[in-house]
Amino acid sequence: MILHEHFDINQEGHLTIGGLDTVELAREFGTPAYVMDENAIRGVCRTYRDAATRAFGADALPLYASKAFSCREVYRIAAEEGLGVDCVSGGELYTAISAGFPASRIYFHGNNKTDRDIADAMDAGVGTFVVDNRDELHALSEEACRRGITQRILLRITPGIDPHTHRAIMTGSVDSKFGSAIETGQAMAIVREALSTAGVELVGLHCHIGSQIFDLEPFSDAANIMIRFFADIQKECGVSLSELNLGGGLGVRYTEYDREIDYADAIAKIGKIVVGFCEENGIPVPKIILEPGRSLVAASGLTLYTVGSVKEIPGFKNYVSVDGGMPDNPRYALYGSQYTALIANRANEPRDYRATLAGRCCESGDLLGENMEIQRAERGDILAVLVTGAYNFSMASNYNRLPRPPVIFVKDGTARVVVRRETYEDLIERDI
Ligand code: LLP
Repeated sequence: MILHEHFDINQEGHLTIGGLDTVELAREFGTPAYVMDENAIRGVCRTYRDAATRAFGADALPLYASKAFSCREVYRIAAEEGLGVDCVSGGELYTAISAGFPASRIYFHGNNKTDRDIADAMDAGVGTFVVDNRDELHALSEEACRRGITQRILLRITPGIDPHTHRAIMTGSVDSKFGSAIETGQAMAIVREALSTAGVELVGLHCHIGSQIFDLEPFSDAANIMIRFFADIQKECGVSLSELNLGGGLGVRYTEYDREIDYADAIAKIGKIVVGFCEENGIPVPKIILEPGRSLVAASGLTLYTVGSVKEIPGFKNYVSVDGGMPDNPRYALYGSQYTALIANRANEPRDYRATLAGRCCESGDLLGENMEIQRAERGDILAVLVTGAYNFSMASNYNRLPRPPVIFVKDGTARVVVRRETYEDLIERDI
């Protein structure tokens, strides 16, 4: 096992995923390629669903935050595993609906939904909108009234929490483009307004404090603040809201320096805390919604590349260049995210070579990592970067007109393409 139990090394010394040889997968499907272990995804889905039911009761619902990895097959899996989904754009919504995902279990997010997004989501019969702000509330109300419907909504609230994660993925503090802050009084103001707005039914509140968080304390703090706010709403408005969405954000093990989180245990602990806070504040435990993205899919995946060149600059660095880079994984360039990488065809050899992993774009910042410990590499080797199942495919671009890699799912000893490789024809298809 390397980091996660579905990554291993076989008798040939090759890296395996879900029991399949990654060197053979690279040969069969080409590189770069994203490969994901379907059973690993389904396993975490079940862990979340079972743990949420135990911790919060039968009406608890984990949603898959599909911004982490969006394609038709993953919505089918989320549906089969009994999850809801969080969509943040018309595109995610379109993909989910086209895969047959039940619209009633879709929560439609986003801090700036366009009129078209709102209309499309209502056409599709989306169950719940998570309303970010007053302008959106009014636009939603207008459209719902025009259609003669009452749309179920949550309001996005910022609880004012600093979860100690990367600044770019921190979302729950007062100075945020998301939601309305309790601290400034704007949260209570939008609750009052929503309660008296036609065409919408306010059923509850949502908060999301950030991503890649390992400590439970910020979640506990956020839950505490939100539940007190539920009690304040009851006192001030005489309304008992029935649904609390606690967002996503639990961390994932990318390197051996990251702790492994036992998600079932974390949810059980948060459950106890939430029930305790509800008792303290004298309110019934609301229907609890969780919204994990990264933790459902990140660990399931890896990316396979072919090494093109190895350049050793005396007194400086060793550059190992591969046939992908920031277009398929922009996370090091954006956040300095750390990964574990290895030479898949010599995975049993010691990782005693220090290298900067470079992509093939015309840009110095096109790196997958620096100071990485890998096996000594040469042209033609297969390099694997582990734990790339979240925020890689979904954040991929065509910079330098590089076609996006395919997504291969492995399950029970077989591999299949769930998103085919982009072609050069795809690249020019929309050009005139
Ligand atoms: N709910 C909401 C409202 C969110 O904004 C997010 C993530 C999630 C749920 C899921 O959070 P997760 O469980 O995945 O941590 N591109 C960045 C991550 C951005 C996260 C954005 N929101 C990265 O690559 O690290």
